Amino acid sequence: MSLSPSLTQDRRVDFAPRIRSLLDDHLGDRVFRLDPETVGVASAELIERIMASRPANDFERPTFKPLLGRSIPRTEASAVMRAVGQDVRAALAEPTDLSADLSGNWPQVAHTYLRDTVFGRDPRRLKVLVDRRLEWTPKLTWAVVTVGAGLPGRRGALAGTSRLAAGTAEASTYAARRHAMGLYRRAAAPVCFTVSALVANALWLGAPFAPDTPNRHIVHESLRLLPVSWNLLRVASPEFTRLDDRIGPKDDVLMLPLLSHRDPALWDDPQAFRPERWNDLDPDTAPGYLPFGHTDERCWGRHMVLPLAERLLDIARHNGLAPDPRQTAARVPLAGLMSVVDVDMRSR
Ligand code: HEM
Repeated sequence: MSLSPSLTQDRRVDFAPRIRSLLDDHLGDRVFRLDPETVGVASAELIERIMASRPANDFERPTFKPLLGRSIPRTEASAVMRAVGQDVRAALAEPTDLSADLSGNWPQVAHTYLRDTVFGRDPRRLKVLVDRRLEWTPKLTWAVVTVGAGLPGRRGALAGTSRLAAGTAEASTYAARRHAMGLYRRAAAPVCFTVSALVANALWLGAPFAPDTPNRHIVHESLRLLPVSWNLLRVASPEFTRLDDRIGPKDDVLMLPLLSHRDPALWDDPQAFRPERWNDLDPDTAPGYLPFGHTDERCWGRHMVLPLAERLLDIARHNGLAPDPRQTAARVPLAGLMSVVDVDMRSR
């Protein structure tokens, strides 16, 4: 099936070729072979059963996969998430400056705004860990962590910082500092990367929005058409072969919300950006809609995402922020997070 590239207002999304071919070749498919070792799954019902069949293993957890070869116990992961949750709540408790200038290159501008809003008072050696350039290669991230962990901390330098940063102060040895900084990166980075991607996608898909459209519906609809977390991988397991005989014992399974979110059997006018569809739909129960994963293992950070995205949308809508009308196409590279890049946003 071929898709019209045009989504809204003559703005085109130019997907990386591998994503484009998934959409062109597999929309409406249930189960299909992606390569000799991987089966793609886009069926809402089968995704549900696969996800329910076993918990994610250590390496399948995007945020708290092992760090420097060491598993992260659940208690430690929960403590880190509590800290970052408090930081986000504290940042959002400050009054919103609706006049903030968010024009420029997105999602970069939104990323910097989120970093400064939530982690702005943290020392440079920590804030640098959420730099967008560190996405280039994990090696670069570890080089920055290694240098930062070697720097002597100044007594009292962490007073007034985020709770997440305070966690790094308890580390007394070099190895413990490295671990703590790795965890800082793991928890602070998604706040900036995922939310800036989500709102960049939303503005590209629909800005300017009708004044009576709730931010919440804009967020749900953006996550439907451009799911930031667009694929979920589970490595080969005997449980999966029992669920569908097209999945062999050695096949990894790539579940694709990208496809289930546009399945013509599940959605009216699936390619259209229509936030109003959420007037009558519940994002927690809509079949095939899983931007935050499956009920059993749903994203631990999701309660932070909506208020942060709403903060950005409030500022954007107040200032009439929208893509420069001269820009008619935005690229979505092949990356872990699905995001338009290099969008030039202008205020009215
Ligand atoms: C638009 C924003 C976000 C989206 C779409 C998203 C999506 C997801 C998805 C789909 C999963 C399930 C993965 C799987 O089952 O394989 C997940 C899990 C998780 N997410 Fe998020 N997420 C977002 C933001 C965040 C943020 C801001 C944080 C933390 C600060 C976070 C932390 C986690 C954690 C801790 C898990 C549990 C598994 C693990 O240990 O990694 N997420 N998320």
